[in-house]
Amino acid sequence: MSVVGQSVPRVDGAAKAAGATRYLDDLVFPGMLFGRTIRATIPCGRVTGVHFDFDRTGFTVVDWRDIPGPNAILHVTDDQPCLVQSEVRHAAEPVLLLAHPDRETLWAAQVRLDEERAEPVLDPRRSPRSHKDILIERGDLAAGFAAADVVVEGEYRTGHQEHVYIEPQGIIAVPEEGGGITIHGSIQCPYYVHHALTHLLALPADKVRVVAAELGGGFGGKEDYPSVIAAHAALLAFKARRPVKLVYERAEDMWATTKRHPSIVRHRTGVTKDGRLVAMEIEILLDGGAYVTLSPVVLSRCCLHATGGYRCPNVRIAGRAAFTNSGPNGAFRGFGAPQAQFALEAHMDRVAEALEMDPARLRLRNVLRPGDTMPTGQRMGDDCSAGTVLRQAVRRSGWTRKRRAWQGTDRGIGLALFCHGGGFTGSGEERLASRCTLETTATGVRVLVAATEMGQGSWTVLAQVVADALGVPLEQVAVAVPDTAVVPNSGPTVASRTSMVVGRILERGAKDLKERLGGLAPAEHFRRHGPVSVTTRYEAPPGLSWDEEHYRGDAYATFAWACDVAEVRLDPDTYEARASKLTLVQEFGRPLNPVLALGQIEGGTAQGIGWALTEEVVMREGAMANAQLTNYCIPTTLDTPPMETVVVENPFPHGAFGAKGLGELPMDGPAPAIVNALRHLGLDLREVPATPERVMDAVDRRARPTAGR
Ligand code: MOS
Repeated sequence: MSVVGQSVPRVDGAAKAAGATRYLDDLVFPGMLFGRTIRATIPCGRVTGVHFDFDRTGFTVVDWRDIPGPNAILHVTDDQPCLVQSEVRHAAEPVLLLAHPDRETLWAAQVRLDEERAEPVLDPRRSPRSHKDILIERGDLAAGFAAADVVVEGEYRTGHQEHVYIEPQGIIAVPEEGGGITIHGSIQCPYYVHHALTHLLALPADKVRVVAAELGGGFGGKEDYPSVIAAHAALLAFKARRPVKLVYERAEDMWATTKRHPSIVRHRTGVTKDGRLVAMEIEILLDGGAYVTLSPVVLSRCCLHATGGYRCPNVRIAGRAAFTNSGPNGAFRGFGAPQAQFALEAHMDRVAEALEMDPARLRLRNVLRPGDTMPTGQRMGDDCSAGTVLRQAVRRSGWTRKRRAWQGTDRGIGLALFCHGGGFTGSGEERLASRCTLETTATGVRVLVAATEMGQGSWTVLAQVVADALGVPLEQVAVAVPDTAVVPNSGPTVASRTSMVVGRILERGAKDLKERLGGLAPAEHFRRHGPVSVTTRYEAPPGLSWDEEHYRGDAYATFAWACDVAEVRLDPDTYEARASKLTLVQEFGRPLNPVLALGQIEGGTAQGIGWALTEEVVMREGAMANAQLTNYCIPTTLDTPPMETVVVENPFPHGAFGAKGLGELPMDGPAPAIVNALRHLGLDLREVPATPERVMDAVDRRARPTAGR
């Protein structure tokens, strides 16, 4: 009878397999116009004039003067304008909007902008402004270094990454009678869009309705940016008094929307001869881009994952998200944690090298155990599986044998230990105060949540949770479309929180509903007594505390833990590094649907391989110069090696049926594991992507060991 823990087919699977699912661009409304965005081309400066070199009959034209409320996309802050007034802070910044009934006529229209270019800030190290600074300190750093036998320093870099969701961004805005607006869109977080639009349009909450269409992938890219497109579509729709569809082509999507923050992370580490970490000084610099967007939150997660799965008594972590005149960087699966743990794990292998110690042994010596504390003072409980995943990965991959046997060959093996905090950081979940509703229907029960289905399987998993908690067959559970006019705010679909946090609220709600039904089946109760609905609020696990000002306390309710082992081969002619096998040992509480969990692990790992090896965003004047899939190369099936996945179960009592967050964890490990496997080949790489050019350079340096150290 129990469906939790079973690989039941996904509830949205049949329609998707049959091609019946309607994505945003499949939707058509009567009288609908197409929209287009005219963008600045300079990275910094002013727009001083606009020239329309076409007949404007039949066109709707919108500029900043058409905005009813403040010219701001409200999120963490309100610094980002919806449309340029005159100042331009990054290339591709939206200036004007056009709409027309005919797509071709729309795109044939020529608009010229007079632009005055000023000198941009493109290097985050030279930026005069921070979006956010964070400092985490513990112990006595100077005393730690004084006690060290060996000190190892290094700088590690990661590049931008583009989400490449299968479905580009898109929104349809429909003006409603009475002055309201309905937004349909490929949106991860309908309530974020609702929040931004009520501000921009100066409308009361009930005049803005946001419906999340089916999503063809999000990966964080549809966390905050849809508010921008929704704002644009809404302005056009209001002015034209017609529905407006604004869908980005791939090139525009890559050129104009957010990316993963590039990072420069410096480590200075003191260790004893026998490999105990005694001092860690870490400096983190993220390129935030031209507006704040989510940079403070990404930086926060980055800093909180900087020491990963290790204990160290003396630590200083200083983080900065710097302003630059490039497109704002934003949420991308992992949300700062991959950058932090890339640097940490690449550095740990250099520390091991300095000590002439096996990298796995160095990690085992320092791995967090229950009772240990992280730099914020967060105490590890039985939910800490760092040691377990590390030992299992070493055993399952044949680490010791391969490490020895492959010495001096064209094969290398490397590992990375990593973790990922589930849910919002610090007191974020308390602030969200998420609510979920369950209601009886003629056929069973309906789940009302704002959680979106973007391919990850959330609707299936949430339905499984409700079915088991209520004790009804899965077929009797339906999940409502996330529509702010219908569903309560169960929070955004981000931060690996849906199964763990939203699922847990639903699990509790289903138990309450079960009591209300007094032994009757939901449909039977509905027939006899009419509809019953139960709304349940988030409750924090007991004993958590967080001090936002000093970054002390429990940064996350729990962490998921993993260890990836990468085996690589180097092509001696092309200098291409290829992952040939991966062993992935991952503990995320308990898999609620093993096949869907495996999908998250393999998909996230593939995304990590791309970030590690091939996905290079080339920036020119602060904008993506290779905005096309022919030279921004994501891994195909041929680049994705066999993966042996080991799921370690350690049920978390405060997540739905033992679940912890899983969605982002797999992204954090592949890059450092691969770079460490290249180090096993004698190649000193401290930057990803490890493109053939960078690998060739490392091969040259290997041949001349004194160069570049
Ligand atoms: Mo996410 S990167 O928390 O959508």
